Amino acid sequence: MAVASVPGKIILLGEHGVLYGQPCLSVAIDLRVGVEMQEGSAATVNGRPLDSRRHTYIKHAIDKYWQGEPLEVVTYSKIPSASGLGSSAAITTASVACLLTLQQSFSPEEVAQRAFAVEYEVQRGGSPNDTSACTQGSAIVLAREKRDHFIWKISRKDRTWYVHSIPAPEMDIVVGVTGVKSKTPQLVKKVRRFVNYSGFARELTQDIGGWVEEGIAALAHSDFVSLGEAMTESQKILHTLGASSPELEKLIQASLRAGAYGAKLTGAGGGGSMIALTDEPEKVAIAIEKAGGKALVTSISREGTKVWV
Ligand code: MEV
Repeated sequence: MAVASVPGKIILLGEHGVLYGQPCLSVAIDLRVGVEMQEGSAATVNGRPLDSRRHTYIKHAIDKYWQGEPLEVVTYSKIPSASGLGSSAAITTASVACLLTLQQSFSPEEVAQRAFAVEYEVQRGGSPNDTSACTQGSAIVLAREKRDHFIWKISRKDRTWYVHSIPAPEMDIVVGVTGVKSKTPQLVKKVRRFVNYSGFARELTQDIGGWVEEGIAALAHSDFVSLGEAMTESQKILHTLGASSPELEKLIQASLRAGAYGAKLTGAGGGGSMIALTDEPEKVAIAIEKAGGKALVTSISREGTKVWV
């Protein structure tokens, strides 16, 4: 038997830009998923037959990385699904961590490599940001080149992402869940069409990268004012790229009016969640709820993927 516990993630800065060679800054959050796997007589998930539509990521991981007896899988999740908080990355990462543990070949890098392979094949694209954040925990930076705090690199076709685990201060982040599902592959495609068609949109992805660099420097100095500014400015760009939505804008504006340092969508957008950086989390959470969102006060999870046998 193997059990894995994996955190969700939020992208502080850099979604979409990371698909065009720009850096990305994410933190793992203290909302976690758990997956248990043990060999049994039939392949099931939470007592129901393993099914490629209902359990897409789990089934893909098992088909790809398991040759033993049928597996009985039990899952538990605190991360709302399709909310931009990495629930599919966390379930994928936890499944892969269990499968490697069952084969006595668990290592964080191996989990990150293989969990990304599953996500990439299911979603037909994407970056290894979410699966690496869920694997490593704390704060990570993806970049096109190797920097200080390098932990592993992941390549696909002609692209290589260098992953770094950077120090991060304690901070309060309020998540506002819109309740509108965020469909990552569709959003990625929508933004890609714009970027392929327009030089202006391509320049905007570079501007996102510029704000990520500002944010990384601000985080290193616990400068929440500058980090918040980088978030709010990035949001304006994501809006122009077509990744925002009226529901997200409403929660973002409410958070800023309540005094947040900065606020933006997180993940692919189009729905899903927004995040606000603040040292008055309850005040911002109330503003989000009054604007129609579901507020969750979170902090950074220092622990990435954990496994037990
Ligand atoms: C999704 O959480 C973030 C995107 O940049 C896609 C990706 O990096 O795979 C939109």
